[in-house]
Amino acid sequence: MDFLCVDIGGTTIKYGVISKDMLLKEFYTVPTPKNYKEFIEEIKNITTRFSHTKAVGVGYPGAYDFENDLMLYAPNLDFLNGRKLQAEIAKFIDNPVFIENDANLAALGEYTIIEQGAVDNMLFITLGTGVGGGAIVNRLLFTGSITAFEAGHTSIDYNGRQCNCGRLGCLETYCSESGILTTFEEISQNRKSDISNLTQLAEYGNKSAVKTFDLFSKHLAAGIADCINLLAPEKVKIGGGLSHLHRFFLDITEQNLKKLVYPAYGNRFKLLPAELDNKAGVYGAAALCKQRYRDVQKP
Ligand code: BGC
Ligand code: NA
Ligand code: ZN
Repeated sequence: MDFLCVDIGGTTIKYGVISKDMLLKEFYTVPTPKNYKEFIEEIKNITTRFSHTKAVGVGYPGAYDFENDLMLYAPNLDFLNGRKLQAEIAKFIDNPVFIENDANLAALGEYTIIEQGAVDNMLFITLGTGVGGGAIVNRLLFTGSITAFEAGHTSIDYNGRQCNCGRLGCLETYCSESGILTTFEEISQNRKSDISNLTQLAEYGNKSAVKTFDLFSKHLAAGIADCINLLAPEKVKIGGGLSHLHRFFLDITEQNLKKLVYPAYGNRFKLLPAELDNKAGVYGAAALCKQRYRDVQKP
């Protein structure tokens, strides 16, 4: 039995076919369209190509209302706000469709494939176009009433940068791709850069670039510390598009974290890069399909 797994990101859609034994059979990426019409075209292409699968699992980068099939709010894909997703996909394919927040699915994917119950509590933070979070609490994905755990929209400075969501100082405004580039701009007298250039500069020991990663680690630690204080996980995993740069920030983030978290939690958690890389989301979509598929088959 195969599932079609789709991870809709702010910049890239990742999708593929995963069997119920969790074997990845096919994997593709395509840029996320910039408007609703083209988005639906792309969803149509993807779903009709894989109509032979049994169910569709989708990660959406925002808050999704399961009961009313509504994409309520995605700060970086706002043309989807207020639209339906299950109903749209049902126009192209008969199979059941299961939807979750993208970072929640990344947490579920990493937990299911890599941890396999080795720990009971795990947090997953995705750093990319947006900053997302997912929490495994007592071995289960924590969903709340609607796709809970918006770690990127917890504030690390109530007078801080203005976030797309309207709030000041959201972690996302510091630790997303555009966030880290803003930090670099601020400390290098308005020098504009992109991620690969910033990485190169840091590699060569450029002072502003090194300081940028230093601040990034401070910001990230401030955000994660509150998540740790709330949920006392054994592991915190970092994924998303920026996670491949972890050699520049992970160790310092951990050192900063040890100073920041509630004293009793300081020696309990490990901070690690996600092993599933950019595929955590699609694996999570497969895990979601596997959990829910049997329920809908029951008469
Ligand atoms: C959204 C989250 C999402 C994250 C990563 C954030 O801006 O609020 O729902 O998980 O971006 O895509
Ligand atoms: Na989330
Ligand atoms: Zn925000």
